[in-house]
Amino acid sequence: MEKKYASMKSIASYVPKHCVTNKDFEKIINTSDEWIAKRTGIRTRYFADNTQDASELGVKAAKIAIERAKIKVQDIDLVICATLSPDFIGMPSNACLISNRLGIENKPAFDIIAACSGFVYLLSLAKSFIESNTYNNILIVGAEKISSILNFEDRSTCVLFGDGAGAAIISATNNQNERIIDVNISANGKYNDFLTTPRNISANIDFSSEFSVSRAESLRSCIHMKGNETFKIAVKTLANDVKEILHKNHININDIAYFIPHQANLRIINAVGDIIGIDTSKVVITVDKYGNTSAASIPMAIDDIYEAGKLKKGDLLLLDAFGGGITWGSSLLYFNGE
Ligand code: ACO
Repeated sequence: MEKKYASMKSIASYVPKHCVTNKDFEKIINTSDEWIAKRTGIRTRYFADNTQDASELGVKAAKIAIERAKIKVQDIDLVICATLSPDFIGMPSNACLISNRLGIENKPAFDIIAACSGFVYLLSLAKSFIESNTYNNILIVGAEKISSILNFEDRSTCVLFGDGAGAAIISATNNQNERIIDVNISANGKYNDFLTTPRNISANIDFSSEFSVSRAESLRSCIHMKGNETFKIAVKTLANDVKEILHKNHININDIAYFIPHQANLRIINAVGDIIGIDTSKVVITVDKYGNTSAASIPMAIDDIYEAGKLKKGDLLLLDAFGGGITWGSSLLYFNGE
């Protein structure tokens, strides 16, 4: 039997309408446009409104991805969603909600949590399912409503994040020039306290005291971050990860058409770019517009160059992600969309 490869057949994204500028934050917390722009590169981010959950953002991106891949919803064999801001804690999964809204029935659907590395983890799963001959077309979605887990009194985190979704169709191909060459994923739980939403939902509920979630409990559902520690380990991990995947696959950095790193902080992106020696014109940057959209960040950035008409079929992409857990991952792939 001819070897089956996995390929990225399409890419799409959805950005909610409500734009929040750094100046808007000046009105609610002790911060400045200058501090945020200089320390993070972020100038704006977009927040979903009360009627839009993460799954809804995911559906919007998924519909475009399906159309661009020129397949029917009935052709989709599996739906996987990466999110750290799901509509519900536990169940139903966002993947099930997205499947339902797309009209997909009797096909497997599940969520994964790998924080900002979620999309690269999805690629790894999709590649394995296709190469093992299990499925032919897989919808992967990174969808986040991070604004729902932000503490708007904590200036060190609330200015950093945005909402959004990115989706891709990963399909089988026999042509190795269309393939996802490699995906590397990893994690180290030793640093689990760097990025957390520390509300422990497995703690017993005390029904005798209160039936409502206390303010303290609600705040523990929000993102907490050890920014400095995260920054240092992010730069080192991201740079090493890229060097490793390039070396393993005998690919020179100059052969890369676009480097698409996770969009958390412009200073991290620039530091990693310098270490790996990539031409700055090949580094995709969207953190200025969208902030950190976690699992949606990489597909939104790929779609940004697609929408701008810069991304062409056959372009060799290098993806690099880092997030809470801590988790990380990289991928080398030929873009196979039209
Ligand atoms: N406005 C003004 N001042 C601020 C703000 C703000 N929004 N936030 C923090 N400060 C202050 C701090 O209080 C501190 O003041 P002090 O010196 O008086 O105590 C000062 O600025 C410096 O704070 P630092 O935390 O040292 O600032 P730093 O330069 O490290 O920048 C940042 C902080 C942007 C968070 C940076 O550390 C960072 O980007 N970290 C990595 C983020 C990341 O990679 N996350 C990974 C993925 S996210 C995920 O997985 C969900």
